[in-house]
Amino acid sequence: MERVMEEILIPEEEIKKRVQELGEEITKDYKGQEVLAICVLKGASVFMADLVRHIKVPLKFDFIAVSSYGDSTFSLGAVKILKDIDQDIAGKDVLLVEDIIDTGYTLNYLKRIFQARNPNSLKVCTLLSKPSRRKINVEVDYCGFEIPDKFVVGYGLDFRGYYRNYPYIFTLKEEIYRQEI
Ligand code: IMP
Ligand code: MG
Repeated sequence: MERVMEEILIPEEEIKKRVQELGEEITKDYKGQEVLAICVLKGASVFMADLVRHIKVPLKFDFIAVSSYGDSTFSLGAVKILKDIDQDIAGKDVLLVEDIIDTGYTLNYLKRIFQARNPNSLKVCTLLSKPSRRKINVEVDYCGFEIPDKFVVGYGLDFRGYYRNYPYIFTLKEEIYRQEI
């Protein structure tokens, strides 16, 4: 662990507190409505599981899997749907749940394809955002934490598929992920 971890950026307790706050805010905003929460696999799965338990309005959830990175840590701008959601979202109030917005390409793509399916509303909730890395301007409705330009893992986020199971968010030593380019 010491070999790869630089520092803990967001401890477990801080994540818990913020996820609860987001859930409460979403509950307030969607009062009288029903939410269709769409989790972007695999990174957002841990966040989604915790978040939905703080949303107190009728809710269904679904999953979509996209790929934009392969095993690399830098977005190539190309997004592909690996697994689509199972239902029609026309007329629904859709909440897209993401782990992190980096360049914004993935979210921009997802918003465009979902918008084209005519939901009643489409909002985005992301756990993390790296505003300094943005390549395309894309609106986010709920954001857990804004973080600096560092590669982070844990709480669902991975490096080459690993570290998703850690309950906190930590940065990797630069020499670990720089090898990727
Ligand atoms: P974007 O298209 O560049 O905004 O990339 C978004 C996706 O890249 C996220 O859903 C993550 O899967 C991945 N990603 C971006 N930055 C990080 C990071 O620091 N750690 C882990 N995954 C990341
Ligand atoms: Mg992701």
